[in-house]
Amino acid sequence: MPSEEMLSLNFPVPHVPKNPVLGWSSFSRASSTEEPIALAKMPSVLSLPNKRYVTSARVAIALALQRLGVGHGDRVLVPAYHCLSMVEPIVFCGAKPCFFPLTPKLEVPLDALERYDLSNVRAILVTHYFGFPQAMRSICAFAHAHGIPVIEDCAHAIFGVADGKPIGSWGDYAAVSLMKFFPVYDGGCLASATNSLDDLRLQRPSPRFEAKALLNSIERGLFYRRFPGMQAAAKTTLMVKDAMWRGFKRMRARSNATPYAYQDPAASEGVNGLDPAWLDRRISFASQQLVEHLPIARIIARRRSNYLRLDAALRGLRDARPLFDGLPDGVVPYVFPLLVERPDRVFRRLKTDGVPLFRWERLWNDEAALTDPLSARFATEIFQLPCHQELTDEDLEWIIERVQTAFHEASEA
Ligand SMILES: Cc1ncc(COP(=O)(O)O)c(C=O)c1O
Repeated sequence: MPSEEMLSLNFPVPHVPKNPVLGWSSFSRASSTEEPIALAKMPSVLSLPNKRYVTSARVAIALALQRLGVGHGDRVLVPAYHCLSMVEPIVFCGAKPCFFPLTPKLEVPLDALERYDLSNVRAILVTHYFGFPQAMRSICAFAHAHGIPVIEDCAHAIFGVADGKPIGSWGDYAAVSLMKFFPVYDGGCLASATNSLDDLRLQRPSPRFEAKALLNSIERGLFYRRFPGMQAAAKTTLMVKDAMWRGFKRMRARSNATPYAYQDPAASEGVNGLDPAWLDRRISFASQQLVEHLPIARIIARRRSNYLRLDAALRGLRDARPLFDGLPDGVVPYVFPLLVERPDRVFRRLKTDGVPLFRWERLWNDEAALTDPLSARFATEIFQLPCHQELTDEDLEWIIERVQTAFHEASEA
């Protein structure tokens, strides 16, 4: 988030936020297209009987691995198409990532895995890419047959059903990334249908972080003009935050605190990495309250309708097509994945235009790319376009117009 611009209070022409931002509309119960009561009851990984809120999904993955006893000399199966923060916790635990290929629709190809050397494999990370569930029944049958515990990576999939059961409930553990679905500064969740988490000791974050998590959510909302009628309050909010920040910095300079103790979780700062200081920290109070109390039906309905709008508008592009065919009932998407031929020029152009799209760019190492050339291509060829609930209709139409124009001009060139 460009906080420099915000601190100057010189808000530029409206930006489109990459992830959900807090605003008055976040509290609205109205949902445009689908039945709100049914949606509010949609199965969710957050409804599993055992759950603990932490600060990010990568922390949740690391905790799951630790609880499974994964350590030095062990191997963990992880998809070759990944973001770095999926692999980070494996290496953090001292284990070796063992990359496996995916099908063109990002499914886990069990026939290929059957041929793998599975010695010392102590866990498999199964990712529900972009909110689309994996075939968990057969994956779990394979894993159980080989004595391999399953961690469901629900970073992209908080709501919905996989093979007839709530998403996240198949695995020994599930890891959730809350910042992707809720307008919060920090947040992850470790959940399990079967394993108690009662013995997991978590500490409260520092008062500085508690304050920052709350103020940052409000600040982002103000920056993106999501609190109409309250922009005048922006100045006060930012001045208070600034003053607090300076105060904490002075305190820090006077104390002998380790550098980590006053930094934010890497996930909140939008970078890869796993900071051990955040492994035993709870989510901030403000973020937990927002996650537990914001109306769910609107989140689900708007994400689905935004996705469908992008799907309809971008289906006919030359040199690009939606990765998936349509949006099945019960899928609540994280982003809209667009598969692009000759992606680099268009990607750069869209980034320059300010379209908040991204791609994973880089795999963990050459071994991942060699294991699965398709995953290596996907890293640059899958554009992830936002479809979150806090995009306004104008935001969405602007994104569509920019993408259509970029592809049109690229094909003319
Ligand atoms: C598939 C997947 N898993 C795990 C993570 C880690 O999530 P977090 O940033 O909450 O640690 C991400 C982050 O982008 C992700 O895309």
